Amino acid sequence: MMEISSAGSLDRWFSSDEQLHHVYPPSIQLLARKHWTPLNISQMVVQFLVPHDGVKVLDIGSGAGKFCLAGGYYKPGASFFGVEQRKELVLRAETAREILGLKNVHFIHSNLTELDFKQYDHFYFYNSFYENLIDTDKIDDSIECTPELYNYYNRKLYEKLAELQPGTRLATFHSFDDNLPSSYQLVESQVGSLLKFWIKL
Ligand SMILES: C[S@@+](CC[C@H](N)C(=O)[O-])C[C@H]1O[C@@H](n2cnc3c(N)ncnc32)[C@H](O)[C@@H]1O
Repeated sequence: MMEISSAGSLDRWFSSDEQLHHVYPPSIQLLARKHWTPLNISQMVVQFLVPHDGVKVLDIGSGAGKFCLAGGYYKPGASFFGVEQRKELVLRAETAREILGLKNVHFIHSNLTELDFKQYDHFYFYNSFYENLIDTDKIDDSIECTPELYNYYNRKLYEKLAELQPGTRLATFHSFDDNLPSSYQLVESQVGSLLKFWIKL
């Protein structure tokens, strides 16, 4: 029987990364250090992406949902959406969301190329396409990864970001800047430039 968190136990879940990782099975916990955003980074990101209540934040490549779950906890007045291409990770994210009882968090099983970005206000991107360029440290072998897909996804992301409203906020973590439209202005850099905050002009 699945346990649903009360407010007090929710605070305990989010007391450390190690604690939160117990919401996932061991196979997902093992991937955390390389693939899921640490809580201290999520805290900084949501401070930037949620300037006021009511905003909708999209995590572009949401994995097992850790960033969205943290966002939903730290910013209960905002809504967090994650799009993820791996079905198994979406199921893991859904289960974690149910255990934590976070009602302002939603997961979508899709490729980001299929999503209408205009439905969201602000965006988070944790180097989701890099797996197309490497042979080691992949999440799994369930999807095709090629340099051609890396270029294709970057082009699609560029097009989608370019058509958003001025004032759109974007946070990038461990990501290259050369795939961003020049209309995105860097407003802050943190963690030795690994974490960057951008606002569209
Ligand atoms: C580094 S993980 C980040 C997970 C999550 N943002 C977090 O910080 O906890 C990147 C995720 O992006 C997903 N991804 C990569 N390309 C994608 C695409 N084209 N559409 C949807 N998801 C994608 C991968 O499957 C992976 O789970």
